[in-house]
Amino acid sequence: MVSLSNGANRIYGEAAFEVLAKAQELERQGKNILHFEIGEPDIETPKNIVQAGIKAILDKKTHYTPSIGILELRKAVQDEIEKTRGYRPDLEQIVITPGLKPGIFFSILNIVNPGDEVIYQDPGYPTYGSVTSFLGAKGVLIPLLEENEFRMNPNDIKEKITEKTKLIIVNSPQNPTGSVMTKSELEEIAEIAENNDIFVVSDEIYSKMTYETKHYTPTARDEAKERTILLDGFSKYYAMTGWRLGYMVTPVKMAERLQDFLVSAISCTAAFTQWAGIEALTGDQYFIPEMMARFKEKRDKIVEGLNSIPGFHCLSPKGAFYTFPNILETGMKSQECADHLLYKANVACLPGTAFGPYGEGYLRFSYATTLENIDAAIKSIKKSFK
Ligand SMILES: Cc1ncc(COP(=O)(O)O)c(C=O)c1O
Repeated sequence: MVSLSNGANRIYGEAAFEVLAKAQELERQGKNILHFEIGEPDIETPKNIVQAGIKAILDKKTHYTPSIGILELRKAVQDEIEKTRGYRPDLEQIVITPGLKPGIFFSILNIVNPGDEVIYQDPGYPTYGSVTSFLGAKGVLIPLLEENEFRMNPNDIKEKITEKTKLIIVNSPQNPTGSVMTKSELEEIAEIAENNDIFVVSDEIYSKMTYETKHYTPTARDEAKERTILLDGFSKYYAMTGWRLGYMVTPVKMAERLQDFLVSAISCTAAFTQWAGIEALTGDQYFIPEMMARFKEKRDKIVEGLNSIPGFHCLSPKGAFYTFPNILETGMKSQECADHLLYKANVACLPGTAFGPYGEGYLRFSYATTLENIDAAIKSIKKSFK
């Protein structure tokens, strides 16, 4: 029997898509499912961005582009980083990718050898562990604790560093907990990396999605020139998940290698998507504060609602659009509780364990839905426990 590669057997997927498939099967059977499992905003891509995409297609922007992206978009990203992160990267540091996710994959591939150690948050975004495992490297988990509002503790990182540690991955605002790390915590992580000669990948896909606090990047320390890599993209706050557009700001030596990686893997990001991205970055930004004001209302409603369910308690997240209630007092495990909610309350959410072993005892709700759906879900969950 012909066998697949070892790496192919080690890579893994995301529970969100599995739960969505289960929920859709129930819908086919006639059930009315309330969806809290999928991580995308519930608004359409703003019209000016859509129009820029359509215009680009009509203007024949439908050919290959340079593998690292068109100069016009790379310049727009350069301005954006200066405006939002307080430093101006060189153009040679900026690489366009089809979504943020390839940025995770390509940075880990560029940095990590089999046997190396990669430090990341747990619970955390599954792609970090999946790619680390694909490469035959070792994932070193930093538990995110509720008593620390699910923020990564720099002291825990210090304790876990060995001579094999090659990379620390940071994600703030965070999926799945909605936590936002403080400026001093992120600065400290960048300093730890510098002192120990380790790379830092900072996944900032929710950078414009904070409520009470401001977003900060650990890449400010070396301006992504030596060891830090900033990843951001258009999927979440521009509601462009299906367009596939993101970017990386990396040390020049890595950006040069990425050029060949991208040629070998994807040739380039879709041309018209890149032109739409310029409009996203440079056009009117009015919808972001509007969207965030609505998300804040939804956050407050779902947190209040979840806290009113016996056995649940839930912190108020500071960013993104996820909340991570503790369900230990229900006496159920995460998976059992998520299945109970799906089959007994018609509410689709994710078990905390979909994001790593330290997610046990929690569920993740994406509240990118309507206030009415939030109300209906809370009522239905309460009823299901009676
Ligand atoms: C932390 C994090 N990083 C990256 C991504 C993926 O971004 P993209 O769709 O741009 O590849 C997600 C999407 O859920 C995410 O939560």
